[in-house]
Amino acid sequence: MFSSAEIGIDLGTANILIYSKSKGILLNEPSVVAYNTDTKSVVAVGKEAKEMVGKTPRNVIPVRPLRDGVIADFDMTAQMLKELMKKVAKKSGMSMRKPTVVVCIPSGSTSVEQRAIKNAVNSYGAKDVQLIEEPIAAAIGADLPVDEPVANVIVDIGGGTSEVAIISFGGVVSCKSIRTGGDVMDEEIVKYVRKMYNVLIGERTAEQIKMEIGYALIEHPEATMEVRGRDMVTGLPKTIELTSTEIQSALRETLEQLLETVRATLEECPPELSGDIVDHGVILTGGGCLLNGMQEWLSNEIYVPVHMAPSPLESVAIGTGRSLSMMKKLQKVSK
Ligand SMILES: Nc1ncnc2c1ncn2[C@@H]1O[C@H](COP(=O)(O)OP(=O)(O)OP(=O)(O)O)[C@@H](O)[C@H]1O
Ligand SMILES: [Mg+2]
Repeated sequence: MFSSAEIGIDLGTANILIYSKSKGILLNEPSVVAYNTDTKSVVAVGKEAKEMVGKTPRNVIPVRPLRDGVIADFDMTAQMLKELMKKVAKKSGMSMRKPTVVVCIPSGSTSVEQRAIKNAVNSYGAKDVQLIEEPIAAAIGADLPVDEPVANVIVDIGGGTSEVAIISFGGVVSCKSIRTGGDVMDEEIVKYVRKMYNVLIGERTAEQIKMEIGYALIEHPEATMEVRGRDMVTGLPKTIELTSTEIQSALRETLEQLLETVRATLEECPPELSGDIVDHGVILTGGGCLLNGMQEWLSNEIYVPVHMAPSPLESVAIGTGRSLSMMKKLQKVSK
């Protein structure tokens, strides 16, 4: 007897992950589609498409259909999902016939978009499709006791959105979401280099700079990095050297906005739960929390312990998949 698959999908604005309870993470790829505008067809999805960003001929454009935390291009999102599901089925040898699926979607999506995503997954043959809120999935994936009457605080810093949520008894007590995250950090780095050096760099280079010499607002031993871009005056390629202090200043505003959101959410915490937060602290998930010094900086600023989830980039996908068996308890909170 073949039992139908049970899978969780983290439909993130930067990365899509597919998780099955029995086999773990089946797929982890960037949310990028390369699209040929002449033939109106998808050329590549995921990693392959991300590698093409900024390097494609004019008729092939890389699209990030979920940019900025919203489903900017629905058709493309549906096509991307379909291609990735096919890939998973092929790679894992798992039957993707009539799977039960839980999808975590960007929190900014509208009810129309939510229905559209459900339809897209359904059209691929899913037996049952449930949606889950990102912070709840992140908390489950980070092994927090979400269904107990204690405050679990999640700070999820994604590509397009960041969320701060207090979860207790399987539901969200208080939550704030902002449309800022890793992507905005990259954009700020591009802007900084353009303004200070008159050099244009691509967003992938900016992301590499952030990962390598980007720091939260803490003191650190200065690091430098050589970067190539296009001189806006001569139009020719140019190499410049950037320091971590410069990049820190470029990230300052985004980081302060993030901190403001964490503070504002904690301020809304019911007094009965405040004690839990002092004891248990805050858990960081999402790729943005991997910025150097993020944990140290936040704990200095909010005076409660700050912990990193075991696998911050995977927490949401793991939680989404695991939530299947908790659906009854979570029924009241799933959309
Ligand atoms: N080591 C690192 N340092 C800094 N940023 C990082 C690091 N690793 C990944 N990131 C950033 O994390 C972001 C992606 O995180 P994640 O995969 O959690 O986003 P997502 O879930 O797809 O987005 P969202 O939750 O907004 O839909 C990207 O902006 C990426 O640049
Ligand atoms: Mg995410």
